[in-house]
Amino acid sequence: MTILVTGGSGFIGSNFIRNVLQLDGVSIVNIDKLTYAGNAENLSDVEGSRYYTFVKGDIGDHELINELLTKHQPRAIINFAAESHVDRSIVSPEDFIATNVVGLFRLLNASKDYWSKLDETGKAAFRFLQVSTDEVYGSLEAGDPAFSETNRFEPNSPYSASKASADHLVRAYHQTYGLPTLTTNCSNNYGSFQFPEKLIPLIILNALDGKNLPVYGDGQQTRDWLYVTDHCDAIADVLNRGVVGETYNIGGESEMTNLDVVRKVCSVLDELRPSISGESYEHLIEYVTDRPGHDRRYAVDITKVKQELGWTPKQTFESGIRKTIQWYLDNQEWVDRVRSGAYREWIIKQYG
Ligand code: NAD
Ligand code: TYD
Repeated sequence: MTILVTGGSGFIGSNFIRNVLQLDGVSIVNIDKLTYAGNAENLSDVEGSRYYTFVKGDIGDHELINELLTKHQPRAIINFAAESHVDRSIVSPEDFIATNVVGLFRLLNASKDYWSKLDETGKAAFRFLQVSTDEVYGSLEAGDPAFSETNRFEPNSPYSASKASADHLVRAYHQTYGLPTLTTNCSNNYGSFQFPEKLIPLIILNALDGKNLPVYGDGQQTRDWLYVTDHCDAIADVLNRGVVGETYNIGGESEMTNLDVVRKVCSVLDELRPSISGESYEHLIEYVTDRPGHDRRYAVDITKVKQELGWTPKQTFESGIRKTIQWYLDNQEWVDRVRSGAYREWIIKQYG
């Protein structure tokens, strides 16, 4: 079975590909534009595998997508490709519309054309899985019930609005053309290979460098934290057993305030890599200007995926954050290259 993965050189996609390649009989074709967030080095360990093919390209390039679909005849397409950082979407939203909306639309269209030409068995087996976010549902107040799959969409940032648009398009392609789609809406992921612009890796690396730990506003915003490999397992379950046309919320059952997350990272670092002064890293916490339109709370109800597919998160925040911090401590070279931009030179050298 071949799966076409888009955006597989980013954080979640690279973890997903590494997991899937451990299974027998699965080949992956990864198309990734290698934006600042994409790093082919994230998959250097599987680079030589005959079950792995990397293609540098844009999901909006329909000629390239058509060519790949014809050549590789995938049984499924999983779309991870996106501009994914809320803060960047506030500063320059255009890239988010270009990839998350227009790019996704072109990818869907190419998928529909490919799918419609398959024989009946191929048509029935094909799946298009869109990886989305809980941010499409907007923001909760303390005490509100967690987001369920039937919540209305109320996106508040250009990022979440672009993802909500994409989810609507995916739904429409199922309803109108019968394309066998699946959508997952997950909470905040954390784990290995996350680009250090997102909260958890940023805090880990700033702390190790003795830099301030920026907490937006009062730090009382809450997020649900999902360990990345748990998320990857959920995607595989939805792909294999999800009901066509349905959406599934995926979460880690670990709701925490940002301040508690930052404090937890500090306390684990205090234990694993104490500062030279012996002082807790917590003294580096600095409250900074809040993000405009900052969503107060996300929480996801994962009853559906648990009951229908039997998936449940394996990691608690306590176990997942230790693994994550240990990974960043053990992978200083990756960190240095990502942060210095030297990984781009590696890519040019490797792929021309
Ligand atoms: P990421 O930013 O780490 O990776 C995105 C990848 O997509 C990068 O490799 C990038 O090069 C690639 N890409 C961007 N534009 C492209 C284009 N036009 N064509 C081809 N490739 C392109 O993101 P991530 O954290 O791995 O997120 C993956 C998906 O999961 C995204 O769709 C995101 O919206 C969703 N998601 C992420 C989180 C999270 O906490 N990280 C939470 C919910 C949903
Ligand atoms: P982030 O990792 O950007 O994910 P998202 O915006 O998709 O939830 O941010 C997680 C939370 O942490 C969010 O409430 C914003 C907050 N945050 C900070 O307080 N400081 C920071 O430097 C960053 C990057 C985020």
